[in-house]
Amino acid sequence: MYGDWLKQRRAKEIMERARRARARTRARLRAVAIAVTGLALLIVHDAIAQPAPRDTHGGLSPPSGGLTRDEVRRRVERLSDLGRALFFDPALSRSGQMACSSCHDPDHGFGPANDKAIQLGGGDLRQPGQRAVPSLKYLQAVPAFTEHFFESEDDADESVDNGPTGGLTWDGRVDRSRDQAKIPLLSPFEMGNADAAEVVRRLRAGGYGDKIAATLGRSDPPDTDTLFATAVKALEVFQQDYRTFYPYTSKYDALLAGKATLTPQEARGLTLFNDVGKGNCASCHISRRGKDGTPPQFTDYGLIALGVPRNPEIPANRDAGYFDLGLCGPLRTDFANRRGYCGRFRTPTLRNVALRKVFYHNGIFRSLRQAVEFYSERETNPGRWFARNADGSVNAYDDLPPDAKANVNSEPPFNRHVGEAPALTAAEIDDIVAFLGTLTDGYEAPP
Ligand code: HEC
Ligand code: HEC
Repeated sequence: MYGDWLKQRRAKEIMERARRARARTRARLRAVAIAVTGLALLIVHDAIAQPAPRDTHGGLSPPSGGLTRDEVRRRVERLSDLGRALFFDPALSRSGQMACSSCHDPDHGFGPANDKAIQLGGGDLRQPGQRAVPSLKYLQAVPAFTEHFFESEDDADESVDNGPTGGLTWDGRVDRSRDQAKIPLLSPFEMGNADAAEVVRRLRAGGYGDKIAATLGRSDPPDTDTLFATAVKALEVFQQDYRTFYPYTSKYDALLAGKATLTPQEARGLTLFNDVGKGNCASCHISRRGKDGTPPQFTDYGLIALGVPRNPEIPANRDAGYFDLGLCGPLRTDFANRRGYCGRFRTPTLRNVALRKVFYHNGIFRSLRQAVEFYSERETNPGRWFARNADGSVNAYDDLPPDAKANVNSEPPFNRHVGEAPALTAAEIDDIVAFLGTLTDGYEAPP
């Protein structure tokens, strides 16, 4: 009797659990569907809205209303395919040899494949750049640049002004990836086109005129403005493809999903990474999920001055009076008079950082271990990092002019002094480097 009752109750429990699981799955699928179509609609509406005001083709461009979800999805797919083709096509450059992928290599987290601090480009492929090539992965959540960033995260104090935050490039001077794409296309030391018209000539020669017309659903050939706007838009849409640019397939993501365990060394590294009294890395490179459950991005997007050493390998630095000061210029021009902003660069994500061969905005270090050692020893052993003055004293923060040195961050682990022990021992640095290796995409659980 009792056995029967127990069996019935168990069966009921199992059914109830299955029902709840199905409901959860449905809710999750709904959420994903809403997010995906929302994004798709946004993109397409935007794509059409961009060239539309300048459209002189008798209003032939299709209204964004009246599109079914399937049509929207197909259009996004077409734009993304176009963007992928453009991204890998060297025919868009004056040299005919340089594509976006030449600097942003998919096998290196869309960062540089080589260990050069800067890349050479331009029509003759000999014009030096000024900064290290950043990764293009996990840029989808970079907020638009703002001088005053107020956190809405769970335990953060919402009234605290976190200062300059967000924007694309190392100094946050661009807000949208389509505007970003114009920089390399037109830069004399990157893809080297003189103007948009030159890019469009190359687009037409490469057979993209018809492809773009088809993507826009037009029968007549699009004008120069529309071709250029659609090309940079397509590059943007391609870079929003989550399967390629933010797949969240690292071992750390598997750990968060309960599908992997860290080795003892990686686990020690994670603890040191988060520990306020040790690495304190997570205070800027956030390692926990967002309030809404989004996976950790390993950056808070803040623009911070770390005072990394000057890199004599950058040709622009041969001029002793030249300084790349990030937020206050000279590449960025809107804060030229804000000395308090000098030396600040955007905190990069650490996802896929182990695939890099150069580190920091000026590519000063060639090993990840050294990049971490710098945090530990910047203050306790400055002579190891910085050049010397004529009198033999150490010129701390030697890539900043004297009046900008006060901007350098002094929070832990930078709160030590000469003569004190560094924040991290050699073994602890190894642990953190091992942990950083768990942030590389493409982890496959051992069978
Ligand atoms: C010659 C090397 C080179 C080429 C070619 C190149 N880039 Fe870049 N890219 C860079 C460098 C260097 C930066 C950092 C610029 C800065 O901070 O001022 C950068 C930054 C970016 C960023 C901002 C990343 C961030 O972290 O905010 C994006 C997006 C980008 N590039 C996309 C592209 C696209 C799209 C193309 C092709 C149209 C392209 N790049 C071609 C070198 C290159
Ligand atoms: C106060 C904020 C802050 C803290 C704390 C911090 N970082 Fe960073 N991190 C930054 C900023 C800003 C940059 C870029 C600076 C630059 O290039 O000038 C950076 C760059 C890096 C880079 C180079 C990445 C690349 O793509 O070139 C690595 C590696 C790194 N951090 C690891 C760490 C580790 C490990 C810790 C802890 C020991 C840590 N960071 C603590 C803000 C911080």
